[in-house]
Amino acid sequence: MVDALGVAVVGFGWMGRVHTQAYARVLHHYPQLTVRPELVTVAEEVPGRAEEAAARYGFASTTRDWREVAADPRVRAVSVTAPNFLHREIGVAMAEAGKHLWIEKPVGLTADDARAVADAVAKAGVHSAVGFNYRNAPAVEAARDLIASGEIGAVTHVRIRLFSDYAAHPDGALTWRYERERGGSGVLGDLASHGADLARFLLGDITSLTADTAIFVPQRARPTGATAGHTLATGGDLGPVENEDYVNCLLRFTSGARGVLEACRVSVGEQNNYGFEVHGTKGAVLWDFRRMNELGVSRGTTYQDQPVSTVYVGPGAGEFGAFQPGAANAMGYDDLKVIEAYRFLRSIAEGTPHGATLADAVHSAAVLDAMARSAETGAWADVQPGG
Ligand SMILES: NC(=O)c1ccc[n+]([C@@H]2O[C@H](COP(=O)([O-])OP(=O)(O)OC[C@H]3O[C@@H](n4cnc5c(N)ncnc54)[C@H](O)[C@@H]3O)[C@@H](O)[C@H]2O)c1
Repeated sequence: MVDALGVAVVGFGWMGRVHTQAYARVLHHYPQLTVRPELVTVAEEVPGRAEEAAARYGFASTTRDWREVAADPRVRAVSVTAPNFLHREIGVAMAEAGKHLWIEKPVGLTADDARAVADAVAKAGVHSAVGFNYRNAPAVEAARDLIASGEIGAVTHVRIRLFSDYAAHPDGALTWRYERERGGSGVLGDLASHGADLARFLLGDITSLTADTAIFVPQRARPTGATAGHTLATGGDLGPVENEDYVNCLLRFTSGARGVLEACRVSVGEQNNYGFEVHGTKGAVLWDFRRMNELGVSRGTTYQDQPVSTVYVGPGAGEFGAFQPGAANAMGYDDLKVIEAYRFLRSIAEGTPHGATLADAVHSAAVLDAMARSAETGAWADVQPGG
């Protein structure tokens, strides 16, 4: 028996579209799901954008005011895909209204914001999912399994990188992303949040870190109209970039492993260069998002001059089998969001969490808070998910 589940999307920029498409596709890939998402309503403050989304994707209604979504009895689950500064207010309100919550990372501006949403979700007894999509990549799940199996020995160190050029253009508009009050900590929330989640997903908790941050493009032109994504703006008044373009960080894990996490949004020549290299006492495992379905694996007993093989993951690795029949048939970014939607809906259907939840968001946000503290003081900072 399939139960219809009314869903809403709040904020229809890039992520709003990707969540909507994931709801539309999820049953194609997961016919066993016992809940069927129905696109009830979309909330968007830019005039015309919600109506356009409804016409294209089939939402039954539209609104400019997300509070109407909280009050709408047809809606049982909500995607919060609005800018970071709205995550706390909207996330808490939706949970208090009894709506299951799929919310984008970094879940607010600080760990305190993420904890507030996590507390509201726990109190309301609703289910949650968080947009840490990279951990959904089948190759990343295979890497995690490989590490846990002990095949690469005890993990000694990891390098995690997230390099992008999305803010590299000097004419990139001064959108909400570059303001501390609306975007938070810049590249920390945008990219390092994913890196912190990947680090913990693969290797367990991070205990302490030391970080250095920088702003490399200090001023940008204010946009003259509504924006979405990474709009260019020329000729407008210049305003200050208030948050970080770059972070570099040394990590210590509970396990004793060490790590380096580096993230930059103004890296000319880098397009989504996201990945990791995990080294153990007997081997290594390497992943690059741009070749999402491949792993570099070094294993054996030779230690020195031990080769690295390319492994194309296939059915059996994570959720690969829900998308492709055999290894080396490519999956893409949007598929990771379909997996996220599946795990969210499965959590609701089964009453047990699957996939990244708000507890994971609190851990990631606590790492970001520690990075900000360390960058300010120049000292090592403890990661404090409990506050
Ligand atoms: N998981 C990922 O890989 C990933 C990638 C990009 C963005 N994100 C996250 O998703 C969120 C949105 O990012 P985006 O790139 O889609 O941004 P975006 O700027 O493209 O879209 C945000 C949308 O929210 C709308 N909005 C703003 N205030 C609103 C309000 N009060 N009510 C309703 N709508 C409102 C804007 O008009 C815009 O259409 C951010 O938190 C970001 O960190 C996650």
